[in-house]
Amino acid sequence: VSRLVPKNITISKDLDPALPPVEGDVSQIEQVLMNLIINAKDAMPDGGEISITSRLVEIEQKSLDIPTTIKSGEYVYITVRDTGMGIAEEHLPHIFEPFYTTKEKGKGTGLGLAMVYGIIKEHGGYITVDSRVGHETIFNIYLPTSKRRFFRERSEGAEHITGVETILVIDDEIPILQLIKETLFRSGFNVMVYDNPLHGLDFFRANSKKVDLVITDIVMPSMDGAELIKKLRELDPTTKIIATTGFSEDIGNIWIDGFLKKPFQTSKLLSVIRNVLDRGKGTSNPV
Ligand SMILES: Nc1ncnc2c1ncn2[C@@H]1O[C@H](COP(=O)(O)OP(=O)(O)OP(=O)(O)O)[C@@H](O)[C@H]1O
Ligand SMILES: [Mg+2]
Repeated sequence: VSRLVPKNITISKDLDPALPPVEGDVSQIEQVLMNLIINAKDAMPDGGEISITSRLVEIEQKSLDIPTTIKSGEYVYITVRDTGMGIAEEHLPHIFEPFYTTKEKGKGTGLGLAMVYGIIKEHGGYITVDSRVGHETIFNIYLPTSKRRFFRERSEGAEHITGVETILVIDDEIPILQLIKETLFRSGFNVMVYDNPLHGLDFFRANSKKVDLVITDIVMPSMDGAELIKKLRELDPTTKIIATTGFSEDIGNIWIDGFLKKPFQTSKLLSVIRNVLDRGKGTSNPV
């Protein structure tokens, strides 16, 4: 996110690494954060501070000022705060409306917050704002945590395997993606998942420096995994790659750092990942 803002704006993060997954689309939630960060930047032409926090909260339906459509339960609570110009009282009730903007012509379409609002609502969550002219602005986002428990596996040994690295996962089987995402998320990793290898590749092209590891399926309809691995290597030869497949013959002689045979246990997944990540750069041998 630091790429989005000029040098006179600092971004600080205080994120809970052990948050449970929320149901939904990673790229949409990213769009939400991007929009809020860009708005915050625009509100601080002379620089300032953006801080982002996340934690788990319990919401009681009958409490406070929450919309009546919101159910009681566990929510991931995200705040985006800036030290900018603040929002005037007369604008405040309208900022989430489409085409509502206070920016000069050509600067803003007024669609940013409308989109943010739509995405959060679609995810069963809600968003509020605290702001006054000349004071800080805080956007509060609440997203319901996933209620699906069936992928969770209580295996001894793997629980202590954690990490903070960023992992890109590409697999055309949604349940597998979901399983990997949930497992890695719970262990603290940043996870991006794509069921379409071409989209995964696009993401990697734009973010290769930030991705510490790619986990990819070998047999996928829209793009051959071996071809994908070749392209990933061309974009960044140092990238660590773990391949997954039901058939070890599929691997052939492509250069990978680790291999997971499907079906795999989440404990196995975590141990292979940790192993590959901890192996010194440059010494990674094909497995
Ligand atoms: N962090 C903020 N600080 C001050 N004002 C804000 C902030 N975020 C939003 N606003 C106000 O809300 C209005 C609507 O925001 P929104 O993101 O919907 O549109 P925009 O930023 O004007 O245009 P767009 O996002 O389409 O480029 C803004 O024009 C601005 O007046
Ligand atoms: Mg905006």
